Amino acid sequence: MDPTTTLTIHPAFAVGPVDERIFGGFLEHLGRAVYEGVHDPASAHADEHGNRRDVLDALERLWMTAMRWPGGNFVSGYHWRDGIGPVERRPVVREPAWKSAEPNTFGTHEFLDLAERIGWTPMLAVNLGTGAPEEAADWVEYTNAPTGTRWADERAANGRDEPWRVPLWCLGNEMDGPWQLGHASAEVYGRLAQQAAMQMKLVDPTIETVACGSSTVDSATYGTWDRQVLELVGGDADHLSLHRYVGNLAGDLDDYLAVGASVDRQIEEADAICRAVQASTRRRKRTTLCFDEWNVWYRNFDMDGGWQRAPHLLEETYDLADALVVAQFLLSFIRHADVVKIANLAQVVSVIAPLLTRGDDLLVQSIYHPFRMISDRRAGIALRVAVDGPTVATRSHGTVPVVDAAVVADGGEVHLFAVNRSTGQAAPIRVTHLGGGFAAGSGELLTAGSPDATNGWEHPDVVQPVAAEVTIDDEGGAVVELPPHSFLAAKLVTPHR
Ligand code: AHR
Repeated sequence: MDPTTTLTIHPAFAVGPVDERIFGGFLEHLGRAVYEGVHDPASAHADEHGNRRDVLDALERLWMTAMRWPGGNFVSGYHWRDGIGPVERRPVVREPAWKSAEPNTFGTHEFLDLAERIGWTPMLAVNLGTGAPEEAADWVEYTNAPTGTRWADERAANGRDEPWRVPLWCLGNEMDGPWQLGHASAEVYGRLAQQAAMQMKLVDPTIETVACGSSTVDSATYGTWDRQVLELVGGDADHLSLHRYVGNLAGDLDDYLAVGASVDRQIEEADAICRAVQASTRRRKRTTLCFDEWNVWYRNFDMDGGWQRAPHLLEETYDLADALVVAQFLLSFIRHADVVKIANLAQVVSVIAPLLTRGDDLLVQSIYHPFRMISDRRAGIALRVAVDGPTVATRSHGTVPVVDAAVVADGGEVHLFAVNRSTGQAAPIRVTHLGGGFAAGSGELLTAGSPDATNGWEHPDVVQPVAAEVTIDDEGGAVVELPPHSFLAAKLVTPHR
């Protein structure tokens, strides 16, 4: 059997523009993500704001867009007023989600000023666990309203005259989960979220809101929760939130490396529910999807901080296989560019993250690379790709193509992303451009000797991208050989350029 996978594209087969907000991140007050992660005045790398320059430099290279803050489970017990005003007067509080001590020295100003300096689009989550809609609307006034009323004036008194104009707001976090502070039924949460969104939009009608969807695909209420919530929140929600953490707990690599197929399915199911509710409620506006937590997470479940500051929690280490899975999440978002408008890698540093700190040292984990490789080539229109080639039968995801692919067209350039899921065989690919072929190509390849290759403190560069060899054949097809367990990000140039 011919081992070659043919990927056929045509510029007319457009899915839609890639929304750059799918390259978002998530910074939660959890473990050492904020304190000892992004913010560490005691570090040798601290800048004049007390933030770690080495961490921020590495994050800037990922070119992240929407940055979700402050949680996560944390937000369901968070009162934003604890984190404003003179730092020395802010309370140290018991933080119940992660059983930690929260000093509140990093609050609204510290986060929003940082986001502004880096160029992140701020995405705030409000407390609908132990908080009320009014508290959420007051926060919108604090961050977004011109001075002249109470909370906007308080912002100015705290040193910031101009509003930050935060555009994205999550209506709570994982409210379907019994682990969540204030966990509620879909009916109770739906009404609360509607009130919060309505009151928040009264303060600033330009904001976009995200309603909590199902927090896992295996929950008993998966699907019904989403439908009920959407019916109750109605047009006050612009997006439905999806969360997904995956891992290789079963020790079945073929199955794990096919998980992108189930991300496709999750997106398509959530979209189907949004469209069904849109039809039954006769709304004109489409509710789109916000995948505001996604990543690999299955090795470290240390969740009890012992009421300490910056405890070591969820400090997962990642291997090459995980990097190939991270690539597949992003490829799935690109393939669904018409409906996935925001996505946030959970998280950014030390807590299930592409970066890990140890004292003043910084480790770049394997999953950093696919994010950077795709983010660098993200601008353009996602195209449908016809994949014709070998397949692999898996335990949980059915039969899937050995090559997982996505394509973004940007004028005369075509960005090709492809994962070889096989751990035993190379995967030759040929890209056929029905609109006229290619004249040149170049790219980067992420691979290593084995799928469990890992960057560690002693050997930090085991998993690293290298230059890929892309050739153009006589008919203008782009030809690349993907080694076993590898990821390719390539730029293919059409002759008209
Ligand atoms: O990202 C870690 C946690 O996972 C988040 O706080 C929560 O929303 C999810 O369960």
